[in-house]
Amino acid sequence: MPDTATMEAIVSLCKRRGFIFPASEIYGGLNGFWDYGPLGTALKNNVRDAWWHDMVDCPPDGPDGQPVSIVGLDSSIIQNPRVWEASGHVGGFNDPMVDCRESKARYRADHLGFLGRKGDTTGQFFAFVSGDDSSMSKARKKLEKYVKAKLSDDDLDFCGIESMTTARLAITVGPDAKEAGTLTEPRQFNLMFKTYVGALQDEDAAAYLRPETAQGIFLNFKNVCDTSRVRVPFGIAQIGKAFRNEVTPRNFIFRSREFEQMELEFFCHGDDAPKWYEFWCETRKNWWGTIGVKNDNLLLRSHDSDELAHYAKDGCGTFDVEYRFPFTAPGYGELEGVAHRSNYDLSQHAQHAGAKLEYFDQERNERYLPHVIEPSAGLSRGVLAVLCEAYTEDPDRPSGVYMKFHPRVAPIKAGIFPLVNKDGLPEIASAIHRELRGKYRLEYDPKQSIGKRYARMDEAGTPFCFTVDAGTLETGNLTVRHRDTLAQESVNKDQVGNFLEDQLG
Ligand code: GAP
Repeated sequence: MPDTATMEAIVSLCKRRGFIFPASEIYGGLNGFWDYGPLGTALKNNVRDAWWHDMVDCPPDGPDGQPVSIVGLDSSIIQNPRVWEASGHVGGFNDPMVDCRESKARYRADHLGFLGRKGDTTGQFFAFVSGDDSSMSKARKKLEKYVKAKLSDDDLDFCGIESMTTARLAITVGPDAKEAGTLTEPRQFNLMFKTYVGALQDEDAAAYLRPETAQGIFLNFKNVCDTSRVRVPFGIAQIGKAFRNEVTPRNFIFRSREFEQMELEFFCHGDDAPKWYEFWCETRKNWWGTIGVKNDNLLLRSHDSDELAHYAKDGCGTFDVEYRFPFTAPGYGELEGVAHRSNYDLSQHAQHAGAKLEYFDQERNERYLPHVIEPSAGLSRGVLAVLCEAYTEDPDRPSGVYMKFHPRVAPIKAGIFPLVNKDGLPEIASAIHRELRGKYRLEYDPKQSIGKRYARMDEAGTPFCFTVDAGTLETGNLTVRHRDTLAQESVNKDQVGNFLEDQLG
């Protein structure tokens, strides 16, 4: 069952502890936009840095046992608008939408479900938003009221938009409507945000906010080849914002209108693409474990043929790394896609821009457009998976909950506290803090009861808390408390750096 209570608790903790706030909250917010607070920013930066470290600075060994070659890039959010014609986004980046004439709501057609009474071909249908429990139970209640009977699961007929003919839509009540026949047929809707470059706001000045970071990489493929010592196979990585005017932003930061992606375009010879595809699917699924997302909550799922993006190569296609989010459980939701884009993008840009983008492979003595394997991860969605994974209820703690972040991504690595804010204890604690803060993100907090300070650190997901007490003045030893086990041990004040080095690396 979808665990809505857990999701509500996570969203509330994120707000209360300063991980994530609704954007422009004091003006009532703006649907699909979020701001990251102090802890959220640190968490997001840690996920981002872990990805960059493992993909660019210290990439994994490839199928031949040698480290793969990956370089970084930071391209513009706004590019020449012809880029998006060539990439297929202007023509193809559409979701079929259904509007409701009565409620004025707009729904993604493939997110609508329909409910009728089994065997009743002329009676009304009732639409609901799939994955939204309250919408579904509302539709069921409306159906029961309509047939004037309580219905069991076996009495119900469920279907998707593909089974809804014009005649059926005419007798369907929308999810937020009272009358039947107010839903339109599905229509295309472009997801790109449009803006204007320069003083004049006419079509010649129109431009788009990028809907993916990937195209900036394809545009710079030749620049990178000409200026770096890269040889195919190699990858170009980029992390940055992407914008999509999603019709139904929902589930906190899972589907938002402004979000961040961590994308790798890995260029290889077409013959080697299946080998690299397999390599990246496996490598990327395993990577999430290095930041604490457990394997049992992850799934590698092949896209069905009707889900493939316009660039995905037949036969190789796309795999999604999926995570069991509380709102999808027991099912899974997409965290990252690994696509075989063939040489679609480079050939489209070569054609539309009239540019020579072919690569000369000296070893093969062959000129060709490389194929691309693209692991494309959501940074914002990654942060959500990390938050969901870390959220742990524990009624025995004063906070009732703690965030079990992997130390690699924990926003604060350790708290340093004097037991009381007097008697020379703050001086010792703040000296330790000053000595180590350049190396680790630490929090020095001399105020409140020690229980309250531990509770705050539990909610922030801080793996260790060091407490200086009267004994420290005599022996030099302080107490370290482990977040997950609540075990306490003694460490000399001169060994705090070594302790953190051992635990955090
Ligand atoms: N360049 C390929 C590409 O953009 P995608 O599957 O559309 O592929 C990749 O997006 C990843 O970006 C997704 O797996 C997801 O993690 C993230 N993502 C996509 N749309 C998003 C949205 N509206 N909000 C948050 N994350 C999103």
